[in-house]
Amino acid sequence: RILPRFYHERVVDHYNNPRNVGAFDKNDPTVGTGLVGAPACGDVMKLQIKVDEETGKITDACFKTFGCGSAIASSSVATEWVKGKQMEEVLTIKNTEIAKHLSLPPVKLHCSMLAEDAIKAAVKDYETKRSNNKSLPDKKA
Ligand code: FES
Ligand code: FES
Repeated sequence: RILPRFYHERVVDHYNNPRNVGAFDKNDPTVGTGLVGAPACGDVMKLQIKVDEETGKITDACFKTFGCGSAIASSSVATEWVKGKQMEEVLTIKNTEIAKHLSLPPVKLHCSMLAEDAIKAAVKDYETKRSNNKSLPDKKA
């Protein structure tokens, strides 16, 4: 448990009760996986989204973070924020908004950056998979 005195209660809450911890099958064509690392400390975050192929809406999200409390809290918040949103919309989520929400101290800003990067990487992964599937030769042609 991390010390409430040093961290905003939201960090403590997300750290002690992280939302959406888990993993989806990364080979599922409706899943996008973002795996990013923080060069500053070596912490690693995996964030996954499940996308409705018709609407481009993110129907579900989960994460696994091997890192500090702020990184865990940031990824927990990130999964909550992306759920129910369009992919274009979540690309505008800034680490500074996450950091502000959690009142992260300056030395912990890079932890929220990990979450922003993970969201972007997950969307990119989904889109890459999707375009690869589309470019498969049409057997009937
Ligand atoms: Fe120690 Fe991230 S480097 S918790
Ligand atoms: Fe590196 Fe938090 S200390 S992600």
